[in-house]
Amino acid sequence: MNAMERVCAFLDEAQTYYLATVEGDQPRVRPFGTILLYKGRLYIETGKVKNVSKQIAANPKVEICAFKDGTWLRVAGELADDEDRGAKVAMLEKMPDLKAIYSPDDGNMQMLYFKSAVATFSSFTAAPETVTF
Ligand SMILES: Cc1cc2nc3c(=O)[nH]c(=O)nc-3n(C[C@H](O)[C@H](O)[C@H](O)COP(=O)(O)O)c2cc1C
Repeated sequence: MNAMERVCAFLDEAQTYYLATVEGDQPRVRPFGTILLYKGRLYIETGKVKNVSKQIAANPKVEICAFKDGTWLRVAGELADDEDRGAKVAMLEKMPDLKAIYSPDDGNMQMLYFKSAVATFSSFTAAPETVTF
């Protein structure tokens, strides 16, 4: 498994992660669950109408955190918007519950991928391990 596959698998298994953005000098954080590895990129999904989307448009630096089985993962990086329809379709196929809210051509569904990321796996019992992609 390469670094991106490992991070994706961890987030899949954790099911929920917390996505932090910045708004001016104020951190903002909320639960997220969408994650997809598609054509070598790690994507998350949101709606353009949401504040989180507006925050990322103004400042694409984010950090996500998830916890599973004694290990926590933090992924810090910069997101980029991708209008690729194939990526949207792939996300809806992987996470079909999203189809109740989003569709590829609704003008709202937004796919964001990590342009660059530093991912760190930490636990109380082992030294932190950092991977980048
Ligand atoms: C378990 C869980 C997973 C969620 N996953 C997502 C997600 O992947 N994408 C998304 O846009 N919203 C997701 N949400 C909803 C957002 O947390 C919610 O819309 C939040 O208010 C968005 O942040 P904002 O208010 O700063 O825009 C999820 C909510 C929960 C409870």
